[in-house]
Amino acid sequence: MAVTIAALAERAPEARIALTPPVISALARAGAAVIVEANAGAAAGFVDEDYVAAGASIATRANAIAAADVVACVRRPDAATLAALRAGQVVLGLLDVWDNPAELTAVADRGVSVLSFDSLPRQISRAQTMDVLSSQASIAGYRAAIVAAETYGRYFPMMVTAAGTAKPATVLVLGAGVAGLQAIATARRLGARVTGYDVRPDAREEVTSLGAAFLATAVDAVGEGGYARELTEHEAAQQRAELAAAIASFDVIIATAKVPGRTPPLLVTADTVAAMRRGSVIVDLAASSLGGNVAGSVPDAVTTTDAGVTIIGAGELAAQMAPAASDAFARNVTAVVASLIVDGALVVDPTDDVIGSMLTTAPAKEESRS
Ligand code: NAI
Repeated sequence: MAVTIAALAERAPEARIALTPPVISALARAGAAVIVEANAGAAAGFVDEDYVAAGASIATRANAIAAADVVACVRRPDAATLAALRAGQVVLGLLDVWDNPAELTAVADRGVSVLSFDSLPRQISRAQTMDVLSSQASIAGYRAAIVAAETYGRYFPMMVTAAGTAKPATVLVLGAGVAGLQAIATARRLGARVTGYDVRPDAREEVTSLGAAFLATAVDAVGEGGYARELTEHEAAQQRAELAAAIASFDVIIATAKVPGRTPPLLVTADTVAAMRRGSVIVDLAASSLGGNVAGSVPDAVTTTDAGVTIIGAGELAAQMAPAASDAFARNVTAVVASLIVDGALVVDPTDDVIGSMLTTAPAKEESRS
């Protein structure tokens, strides 16, 4: 009998869905049958008929969970759904392992395999097709540049017209990881004059290879697994002072700096925002309930300061492009599911270097956010 994978409806306002019609045939080839909760894809632009036409079946939430070997979701499901999972099942999604880890370990303790994309070992080449963090960050970075251009009251490109010449917008992208590099590339395509910044020295070459300038500061902070490490308080203060001097000359700031499992670093203080020109725009992709890269940014809210600087707290911009984001997410889910099916059976191997890292069981995953 085929392994059954169920995609559930997400909690509003999340518009993405973990499986989309284009991946159903690939899952079938890998030995998986798909059940989708009724109407679950609607917010992402996929109706039940599309799923049925692609070979999936539609069920109520309770029946989908009951029939599933693997429950696929975008975000961590609600407590009732977690409680309905039974031993031997797999739950797979972007489960935010650093937030309330006890809730996930309780599910794992009941014999459910809890697999989260947050802890995917992204540097392993086999894991790259499974890398939800990259697929979603890339979309968020693209979208950040579009949102900034839409909000900014002047041109991004240089415009030479009979009515005079407009200078190109100057854009500074803070954090040149997956999202930052895509924001840089997109802002460049829109014609802006772009500068990138990161604390990882490797980022310089990646930024300049996109045709952007690199803003150098005295702070270097390479961490583990290709990520940045958290700065010391002294380094952070030095960085904020150096950035403050540079930021006032930019029209647009796109902030994407994060450290996995940690509160995002504060890079732009209220004083720095106050020194920016009226009409400037800041998009803070790091905005979260724990704080973001920019003082005063509120997740999913737009604020304009008394001095006329607009701060967009961008919680999850990938979700604003739910059809594309869901397609990419679904391809990542499919790659994981395919790797879990061995000779037609579901096998969760904790010794596998990719799957073992994604599994919530080990106390090492329980360190809380600081
Ligand atoms: P992320 O979302 O955790 O962080 C975004 C960016 O913020 C990173 O470039 C980080 O260096 C930067 N950052 C953190 N603290 C900062 C600070 N205080 N000031 C300025 N910048 C700061 O990271 P993301 O985008 O998920 O991945 C970052 C890097 O991880 C990639 O550029 C790459 O080097 C590595 N990676 C490697 C992969 C692979 O080997 N296949 C796949 C994905 C990522």
